[in-house]
Amino acid sequence: MEEQPSIREKRKDEHVRLALNTNQTQPSDFDALYLVHRSLPELDKEEVDLRTRLGNLTLAFPIYINAMTGGSEKTGAINAALAEAAKETGIAMAVGSQHSGLRNEKVADTYRIVRKKNPNGVIFGNVGADAPLDYALRAIDMLEADALQIHLNVPQEVVMPEGDRHFSGILKKIETIIKKTSIPVIIKETGFGMCRETLEQLKTCGVQFVDVGGGGGTNFVHIENERREKRDYSYLKGWGQSTPISLLEAQPFLKDMTILASGGIRNPLDAVKSMALGASAAGVAGAFLRVLDKCGTEGLVEEMKAWKEHLRMIFLMQGAQSLEHIAKCPIIVTKNVREWCDLRGLD
Ligand code: FNR
Repeated sequence: MEEQPSIREKRKDEHVRLALNTNQTQPSDFDALYLVHRSLPELDKEEVDLRTRLGNLTLAFPIYINAMTGGSEKTGAINAALAEAAKETGIAMAVGSQHSGLRNEKVADTYRIVRKKNPNGVIFGNVGADAPLDYALRAIDMLEADALQIHLNVPQEVVMPEGDRHFSGILKKIETIIKKTSIPVIIKETGFGMCRETLEQLKTCGVQFVDVGGGGGTNFVHIENERREKRDYSYLKGWGQSTPISLLEAQPFLKDMTILASGGIRNPLDAVKSMALGASAAGVAGAFLRVLDKCGTEGLVEEMKAWKEHLRMIFLMQGAQSLEHIAKCPIIVTKNVREWCDLRGLD
């Protein structure tokens, strides 16, 4: 049965409200990773080049506002504010799942606003993995998107009472979309991370761009459980791999695929640690949403400018002139993350 638009709109608003309530002090696997301090970087700040590439697409900075929202009046206003901040800072931005806008023309403008506000910016579209080809193509058109994210979110669907229960045939759909589009298609997890088995499946069907979308930040099992009448899935909230573990799982794929990091990126240091593990860029969702909520668009612009500056400073301290250099900096893996690597036979 086709879902009522009003139910979808309500869900979008609830996701934002519940994401804003996420506990920000939970322990992070990023704290088990250490960059090694260098006393003689032999580099000047002006020499640091933060540009990164996704295929033919160049991002001026190796961070992006990750997919969040759209589809209701409130979330349209959030998209407008995020787009404004993206424009002011030159940082790329993804919209949330465009399915609402594709099914209901009345809310399509809550996504289109992002291109309207930022005509020359780098914008990623977003659809679910169940999207047929025509949805993917229309989603790209809707935004004149520079890249398309296809999100994977099985645990979220499972815990969502009205969620999908049919997950076969996804790889075939992904393969078709990749063949029929000329822009980068990024297969993205939504806070549950990836493992080498998933990456192998994606590689086999021609995927070149992956956002490992690990745990440690916004948690959609928790969010959907909060929306349930009986909150009976609370025991599942630790499901999945953290972003550092997902990046370690991804090591053998770095030579063939462009790997992006997201999920629980709290600060520029987490982003740089991801890049030292080979990520070409880091996506931030919840952390930026909370700043927008507390400090408004201007506050978010200030925060994103600070991230750019701090990224440069950490590269400088590491003596890394570019992404290529930071990927060669040693990073020490300790504690439970080390243990995971040992048990999984990862280097
Ligand atoms: C999301 N996320 C998300 N992802 C996606 O691919 N499509 C979507 O529609 C949404 N919707 C959404 C709504 C809200 C309110 C939030 C906060 C997040 C997931 C997001 O892109 C990211 O994968 C996770 O939030 C984990 O990253 P953070 O929040 O820990 O940085």
